[in-house]
Amino acid sequence: MSGHTPRMHGEYYQGAMLKEPPKSRKSAWRTIFNYLYRYRVLFLLAVVMIAVESILTSIVPDFIGKITDLISDGLYSGDIDLDAITYNGLIGLVLYAIATLAMYLRQYWMSGISQNVARKMRSDLQAKLDRLPMGFFDNCRKGDVMSRFINDTDTVGSALARGLPIFTHGILVFVILLIIMLVMNLTLAVVAIVSACTGMAVAAIVMKRTQKYYRNQQKNIGRMYGLISELYTTHDVVLAYSATDMNKEKFDGINEELRVSGFRSEVTMGLLPAIMKFFGNIGYVAVCLVGSIMVIEGQITIGMVVAFILYVKLFSGPLDMISHSLGSIQAAGAGAERIADFLSLGEMSLDVESDEEKEVVGKVEFRDVHFGYNENEETIKGFSVVVEPGQKVAIVGATGAGKTTTVNLLMRFYEVNKGEILIDGVPIKEMSRKRIRDMFCMVLQDTWLFEGTIRENIAYCRDISEERVMDACRKVGLEMLIESLPDGLDTVIGSKSSLSEGQRQQICIARALVDDSPMLILDEATSSVDTRTEVVIQNAIDSMMSGRTCFVIAHRLSTIRNADVILVMKDGNIVEKGTHDELLKKDGVYADLYHSQFEIVEEPEEESASGLVVSAVVPDELKPGME
Ligand SMILES: Nc1ncnc2c1ncn2[C@@H]1O[C@H](COP(=O)(O)OP(=O)(O)O)[C@@H](O)[C@H]1O
Ligand SMILES: [Mg+2]
Repeated sequence: MSGHTPRMHGEYYQGAMLKEPPKSRKSAWRTIFNYLYRYRVLFLLAVVMIAVESILTSIVPDFIGKITDLISDGLYSGDIDLDAITYNGLIGLVLYAIATLAMYLRQYWMSGISQNVARKMRSDLQAKLDRLPMGFFDNCRKGDVMSRFINDTDTVGSALARGLPIFTHGILVFVILLIIMLVMNLTLAVVAIVSACTGMAVAAIVMKRTQKYYRNQQKNIGRMYGLISELYTTHDVVLAYSATDMNKEKFDGINEELRVSGFRSEVTMGLLPAIMKFFGNIGYVAVCLVGSIMVIEGQITIGMVVAFILYVKLFSGPLDMISHSLGSIQAAGAGAERIADFLSLGEMSLDVESDEEKEVVGKVEFRDVHFGYNENEETIKGFSVVVEPGQKVAIVGATGAGKTTTVNLLMRFYEVNKGEILIDGVPIKEMSRKRIRDMFCMVLQDTWLFEGTIRENIAYCRDISEERVMDACRKVGLEMLIESLPDGLDTVIGSKSSLSEGQRQQICIARALVDDSPMLILDEATSSVDTRTEVVIQNAIDSMMSGRTCFVIAHRLSTIRNADVILVMKDGNIVEKGTHDELLKKDGVYADLYHSQFEIVEEPEEESASGLVVSAVVPDELKPGME
């Protein structure tokens, strides 16, 4: 919401990433495996393919070795056994072909699985977003959430597509080679295994200590997204306040942190293979040494040592695969953690299953309502009022008195802390949120427009005829504008530049005009349109209000004066209640407000018999933001 822009200058970026502390770090991979579980059959098939590939790649060298032996034997004897060579060669070829096919299949399946997992994660995040309470959006940073949707799911996806299969393949080849070695010679196998395991253990320690770099990396990417989206959406504010220098500083800070965390995770990613290689070489030397001693002592033949040395060399293959894929697996762990954190945030209370679809009469009652946006600060303090069906209620009060908050509570955007709000005698807690929102039609000071045509914005997912849309436009004074646009109603809007704030409000009011909801909420709905247009709109609004229960927060005195009841709010409570005349007579807060905030200006056209209309002018310091 645009009302939050001023917070950009301040602590906005230093706040916590998410409101609630993250759950256990261990849940990251559990999250991933929970997702994988949905594709367990394909995943198992892929694992089988990895196994086939691993076994074949471990065996094929044997055939190549046989061919080499046959050739060298033939060279000595002068009679090369071509048939045997062809036979072994063909087997080797077929095995290679199968291995390649297995590799293709596992890549195909794992790519499918990984993209499906990423998609499912994104849709789960999206569904979660719908279940989060309004309070989350007040405090969250858009970019950080965006980065969870886009960057973190992608990191997990690519680790599943490439990192995990390569890792598994490496482990399997490693195990197969181990078995072969164990069968060949126990002592030498133990030597090779000990050195390899030491290498793995060291790598594991390094991994454990460097996971934080990956975590920082993902976090900093989120912050960068946040800053960019904020700078972009508030570009005009930044320019107007000459805040470019300050923002440059902030940007440079995050950019630098991103460099450092990126550098560290890259270094780790490069360091791991080096460590593994080092211990691989140690194993190689150890096998040579121990093997030679054993040969001298006559325990084994030289051939055995040579074979072993070859296998220890082969060992570096899987170790390489393992160490190279560890980086992406670590990054995926960090990404999954952020996704799991988001998915474990506290949600809104569950909606009731089904509503009684009764006709809405329009009686609204606030019963000793208490509410605070934060735990330690109460914004609404014991608000009580009964609104009869069809009554027009005007809510007035200084900025910050709690008018919008009251309306937010009525719409159940937030849950009350204490007390109750009832519609037609039923507590809104016992209704579904959708039903409550369907009961009301709402026009706010913060215009709600989305990227789309004017027609789509007015019809808003409902099936509404062209005539009705055009009629609504006429009533709110948009006719001239629409006629001047080459595409008319089909002009695409949404970006700030194309329409003035007043025109945006006019569209929102037109949207309300074609809405048949039984109750109406107008929160400073005409604050940005000029007095002349306002008079036009007022007729539309008056017709819209007739016969409905209405809550109007307005600065325009004529609206307030025609209200059946005026609620004067101060510091989160109703301090006065009554009609305009009653309240003036009382000479209390309302009278004060009336004299200080509203002034009488000359009426531009007919409308009132006296030629004068009382209109409100909001003092400068009370004017909303800098939109
Ligand atoms: N989303 C929010 N989070 C925290 N505090 C809020 C939020 N919205 C409003 N407030 C605070 O609640 C108080 C009442 O605000 P509001 O109901 O918007 O006043 P108004 O009467 O001008 O509409 C103000 O002090 C405001 O700072
Ligand atoms: Mg307000």
